[in-house]
Amino acid sequence: MQRTLILLKPDCVQRRLMGEVISRFEAKGLNFVAMKLMRVTPELAKKHYAEHVEKEWYPTLELFITGAPVLAAVVEGLDVISVVRSMLGATSGLKAEPGTIRGDFSSSRQMNLVHGSDGPEAAEREIHLYFSQEELLDFEPTITPWVRASDEA
Ligand code: CDP
Ligand code: MG
Repeated sequence: MQRTLILLKPDCVQRRLMGEVISRFEAKGLNFVAMKLMRVTPELAKKHYAEHVEKEWYPTLELFITGAPVLAAVVEGLDVISVVRSMLGATSGLKAEPGTIRGDFSSSRQMNLVHGSDGPEAAEREIHLYFSQEELLDFEPTITPWVRASDEA
């Protein structure tokens, strides 16, 4: 079982697409174990996007991600990191396939609605940037036996 960080970015919140996006993850069978609406500060943005801070487009990314609240969440599931990334689609909404979240709702390289951690190390690091250990809830949804077979890890 894996966990990953998702952020519904400011464009998603402003465009009233939070419910739509959360519904897709729920319908897929993923388990939300933490969720909060919050404002990303410039300091948190620089930590989250450390690998991009030197890029020439970073200043506009920081303005975007700090420009309105985000909904931060941790979701759990089998192979959830790659499952979420494939549900998001390519980085740019102009390139993402129809059927993906970015492909269906975004027309921008930057305003692409949702962040998902890109690997196990990123997931571990990012979950702890946004949530304390006490905010991560351990529970087994009663529906699990109808979401996957008992021999699927
Ligand atoms: O989010 P993802 O991992 O797909 O893409 P990334 O290459 O790690 O870039 C992080 C975020 O920076 C993207 O999701 C975009 O919001 C933004 N970005 C941008 O503003 N301009 C670019 N040329 C590339 C990415
Ligand atoms: Mg990335």
